[in-house]
Amino acid sequence: MRASLVSAAVILGLASPAACIDPLTIKGSKWFNTKSGSQFFVKGVDYQPDITSTSAVRDPLADTAGCTRDLPFLKDLGVNAIRVYQTEPFGNHDQCMSMLSNAGIYVMLDLSTPTETINRDSPSYDVDLLGYYQRKVDAFAKYDNVFAFLAGNEVTNAVNNTAASAYVKAALRDVKSYIKSKNLNISVGYATNDDADIRWQLQTYFDCGAVSDHADFYGINLYEWCGTAATFESSGYADVVKNFTNWDVPVLLTEYGCNNIQPRTFPEIAAIYGSNMTASFSGGFVYEYVQEANMYGLVSVSGSTGTKTADYDNFKKALAAVSPSGVSMSSYSPSGKQQSCPAVSAAAQWMASSVLPPTPSNSTCSCMMNTLTCVSKQTSIPTSAGDLATFGTTVSNIFGTVCGTVDCSAVSGNANTGKYGKYSFCDPLQRVSWVMTQWYNDQRNVDGSCDFGGFAKTQSVKSTDDSGCSSQKDDPSSLSSSSSSSSGDGKNSSSNSSSSAASKVAATMSVFSITMAIAAAAFLY
Ligand SMILES: *[C@@H]1O[C@H](CO)[C@@H](O)[C@H](O)[C@H]1NC(C)=O
Ligand SMILES: *[C@@H]1O[C@H](CO)[C@@H](O)[C@H](O)[C@H]1NC(C)=O
Ligand SMILES: *[C@@H]1O[C@H](CO)[C@@H](O)[C@H](O)[C@H]1NC(C)=O
Ligand SMILES: *[C@@H]1O[C@H](CO)[C@@H](O)[C@H](O)[C@H]1NC(C)=O
Ligand SMILES: *[C@@H]1O[C@H](CO)[C@@H](O)[C@H](O)[C@H]1NC(C)=O
Ligand SMILES: *[C@@H]1O[C@H](CO)[C@@H](O)[C@H](O)[C@H]1NC(C)=O
Ligand SMILES: *[C@@H]1O[C@H](CO)[C@@H](O)[C@H](O)[C@H]1NC(C)=O
Repeated sequence: MRASLVSAAVILGLASPAACIDPLTIKGSKWFNTKSGSQFFVKGVDYQPDITSTSAVRDPLADTAGCTRDLPFLKDLGVNAIRVYQTEPFGNHDQCMSMLSNAGIYVMLDLSTPTETINRDSPSYDVDLLGYYQRKVDAFAKYDNVFAFLAGNEVTNAVNNTAASAYVKAALRDVKSYIKSKNLNISVGYATNDDADIRWQLQTYFDCGAVSDHADFYGINLYEWCGTAATFESSGYADVVKNFTNWDVPVLLTEYGCNNIQPRTFPEIAAIYGSNMTASFSGGFVYEYVQEANMYGLVSVSGSTGTKTADYDNFKKALAAVSPSGVSMSSYSPSGKQQSCPAVSAAAQWMASSVLPPTPSNSTCSCMMNTLTCVSKQTSIPTSAGDLATFGTTVSNIFGTVCGTVDCSAVSGNANTGKYGKYSFCDPLQRVSWVMTQWYNDQRNVDGSCDFGGFAKTQSVKSTDDSGCSSQKDDPSSLSSSSSSSSGDGKNSSSNSSSSAASKVAATMSVFSITMAIAAAAFLY
């Protein structure tokens, strides 16, 4: 009865933020239902229907028609959670979130998108990205079926890009602190790929250091168990699980389901929800709901119609056959222990310092801008692909030229040494303006030395003394409500899942490619 009243409200557009699902909380290495006190195991599916045909922005939780089409399947599958890779803070999510909540389905959300993210090959983390993550928290934290955010997915995925994890962990720290400042209880974790060389380093790195800095939970995208001939031992699952013995935070599979043998029968589900794993793992999300070119789907969607694939009933049956037994919140005393940070050296195959990049602050950057005498004429980063490309080239040329003779460490960072410039988190326009001012000063402000091919202009300032700027902190409540859009597909997965995602990412140059060009230029000197 209640359900039908609620759906009538949804149809009439009266839906208010979901209010009928029990909140979850983390105690030690487990999630619990705060009302019943019973342990919560994620029986989930990764959910990212491609809606590029109907919208420039890929946000399935703002697509009421899509949610209406998919909800009966999600209910029938018996899942209690979905992980959604790409959403946008500006959409209206009320109806989808309310439908999901009424169906008892929790939501884990990735914060990044292909354009709003930390680039693994030339990482940096700035005021724009933190602002974007904060807006996403604001957009979703009001729904009480949102139980977790992911601050990154497979960012470090090889021995040569481990430094990127320092930036991801800094973002994770700052989102945690933002959530805390709003008096919310949503956990923030990280989803890792499964690269045998750096598994241990990654899992300890995200667990080490101050409690305020480390991941509230840890997700693994694991595609090792292929077909019924494999076992818990032979698949490699046993080794992965062993390394999480006595872990101090919840661990789960943020993607699973090798598809080398099709159709899939999901033999790993008995292990994931059985006694070999439930002591340290909290279930997982099968990859994935929608059928794409990479052939991992449970449902093929077309317009308002969904059709079950051959995997659908197999997954449903395997999931229905398990009933994980957990502990009750009151009888559980956590005994897990926190890890220490991995050694930083090439030999240890880990280059991310435990010293994290500083929290980006717009106040610091605006204060710094007020002391500059030579600044960019542009006041915002162009949005069209062509202009953006020209802008990126101009900016990296300026860095290349100036930073050969001037010390640019104030606007760059080095996660390997753990040294980050006091303005390393400013946006690309602010950083290039800082660089141009150094050049202008070096040239003793002679005419023409603040030009840079017409890109720069001089400005008069009250004072060039920037010594007080670094102590300026942002007030999170004064956030701007503007937001940048993005396109493409935020998901990624390990090697065996041959995701079609990458090919769909729009080939526009993002702010982060510019940041990358800047960083690359700065590192040359
Ligand atoms: C790591 O190696 C890949 C493949 O060779 C390369 O494309 C990438 O730029 C490298 N990343 C870094 C940070 O050196
Ligand atoms: C910094 O200011 C920019 C421009 O107003 C905004 O888009 C961004 O969200 C802000 N970042 C933070 C962390 O407040
Ligand atoms: C968050 O958790 C704490 C401790 O469990 C609790 O006291 C508080 O009420 C919770 N806050 C919200 C917003 O749920
Ligand atoms: C990919 O699948 C093969 C089996 O076909 C398996 O041996 C291998 O471990 C898998 N790789 C990953 C990264 O999961
Ligand atoms: C388990 O941890 C050890 C280090 O303690 C590491 O060498 C090994 O690769 C890890 N194995 C797996 C499967 O994660
Ligand atoms: C649990 O582990 C044991 C020992 O490796 C194995 O024999 C058993 O098949 C595993 N159970 C499942 C459900 O995989
Ligand atoms: C996904 O991973 C592949 C291989 O590491 C990479 O080339 C691609 O850029 C990634 N895609 C996204 C969206 O991160």
